[in-house]
Amino acid sequence: MGEAELPRLTVIGTGYLGATHAVCMASLGYDVVGLDVDRKKIEKLQAGEVPFFEPGLPELLSKALESGRLRFTTSYEEAAEHGDVHFVCVGTPQQPGSDACDLSYVDAAVRGLAPHLTRRCLVVGKSTVPVNTAARLTGMLRELAPAGEEVELAWNPEFLREGFAVDDTLRPDRLVFGVASEWARERLAAAFQPILDLGTPVVVTDLATAELVKVAANSFLATKISYINAMAEVCEATGADVRDLAKALAYDDRIGGRFLQPGLGFGGGCLPKDIRAFAHRAEEIGVGQAVSFLREVDAINRRRRSRTIDLVRELLGGQLDGKKVACLGAAFKPNSDDIRDAPALDVARTMHGLGATVRVYDPAALDNARRAYPELRYGTSALDVARDADVVVLLTEWSEFREIEPSALAQVVRHTRIVDGRHALDADVWRAEGWEYRALGSP
Ligand code: UDX
Repeated sequence: MGEAELPRLTVIGTGYLGATHAVCMASLGYDVVGLDVDRKKIEKLQAGEVPFFEPGLPELLSKALESGRLRFTTSYEEAAEHGDVHFVCVGTPQQPGSDACDLSYVDAAVRGLAPHLTRRCLVVGKSTVPVNTAARLTGMLRELAPAGEEVELAWNPEFLREGFAVDDTLRPDRLVFGVASEWARERLAAAFQPILDLGTPVVVTDLATAELVKVAANSFLATKISYINAMAEVCEATGADVRDLAKALAYDDRIGGRFLQPGLGFGGGCLPKDIRAFAHRAEEIGVGQAVSFLREVDAINRRRRSRTIDLVRELLGGQLDGKKVACLGAAFKPNSDDIRDAPALDVARTMHGLGATVRVYDPAALDNARRAYPELRYGTSALDVARDADVVVLLTEWSEFREIEPSALAQVVRHTRIVDGRHALDADVWRAEGWEYRALGSP
C-alpha cells in the first residue's frame, strides 16, 4: 500500500454500530468490506436494506453500494484478505443472570479473523468492553495469527447515539485512539483522515484508558440522569417541582442542561448494561468501592419505573386491576425502534401483570414490541389506543405525542387522566383543558 493510498477497511459485526461504521466509512471514500456471521443480515445489507431504524442510513447505504466501495460477506478469509485495518464492532450484551459483560462475540470475532491474518495489519476494537480486555485479545491475536507480532491491536471506542448515529460517526466530538505503538497510531489516523481533516480532536492513549473512556462517559451520563431523578424523588416528598429545579440548574454552565431531563429514566442497549458491567469489573479488580455509586444510579433508575406505576395507580383511585390503560411509547427513547431495556415496555408489562388492560402505541417500535411482549395489546395511533381509556400514560417523548391536542384526546378517552412519564407536555395547557395531569417530581 502506497503512502497516499487510503487503507482498506473491514468491519466485523454489522449490527447497529458496525453497519453504521461500514456505510459511513465507505461514504468517506474508503474501500470497505462488512462481515457478519448472520447470513440474513448480510443479504439484507447487500440488497440495500438497513435492518434497523436509523435516520439517514438507508440513503447512505444505497449510495455506498452504488459506488462499489462497500460490499458484505460472511467469509473471514475474504475479510482478512481485504483489510489493512479491521474494526471489531460486535455486541457485548449483559450476561443473562449476571451484571457482567458477555464477551463471547468479541472472542469469536478475533478467533474467526486471526487465523487468516497473514500480513501486517491493525485490528481495532470498537465494542464496549471491560477494561483490560484488549490486553487479553492482543495475546490471542499473536498466538492465532500466522503473521504473529505483525498484527497489532488498537482500541477506538464509539460514542454513537441511536437516532444520530450517522452524524456522530461522520462528525464526532472527539476520537480516542488507544494504541500500543506509533505505527498503530499512524494507521488509525490514516483510517480516519477525512474526519481528522475536519479538525476533530484526538486523544491518544494506551489500550486500557481507551477501553475505560467509553464506560466512564456512559457512567457519567447515567449518573447525571439519575441525579436529577433523585432530586425528583425529593421534590415529590416536599411539594417542590423538579422541572423548575432542572431548569434552574441547567443555566449554570458548569452543570448544563443536557442529560438533565427528569422522568422515567434511562434504558437502551448501552447505559444500563454498561454501568452494571463497569461496577462488576471494578469489583473483580478490587476497586469496587470507587464505583459503588453506580449501583445506586441503577437503583434510582429502576425506582422511576415503579414510581410511574404508583402515579398511575393513584390517579385510578388505588387499583389497576380491570382498568384500561393507554401507553404512548414503547421504544427506549424517541426516534428509535430499539426496545432493549425500554422503560416504557417495562412499565406497560408490569401494569399488565397487575391486571390492567394495556394498549400500546409507538411510531416505530411496534413490531419489535409485539414480538417481545405478545401478551400486550397494540394499536395504530395514540387516539386509537386511548379509546375508552381510564388513564393515558406517556412513556416515550416522541414529538407526535407532544403535539397531541388535549381536546382531541379528551373526546376518545373514558376519563381525562394523564401521567406524563417524560415531562413532555405542558401541564398548564392540559389542566386548562380539564385533564387531571400528573408527572414524576411535580406537584
Ligand atoms: C448512549 C450514549 O449517549 C452514547 O454516547 C453511547 O455510545 C451509547 O449509549 P443511546 O443509548 O443511543 O446512547 O441513548 P441516549 O440518547 O444516550 O439516551 C439514553 C437513555 O437516557 C434514554 O432512555 C433516554 O430516554 C434517557 N435520558 C436521556 C433521560 O432519561 N434523560 C435525559 O436527560 C437524557
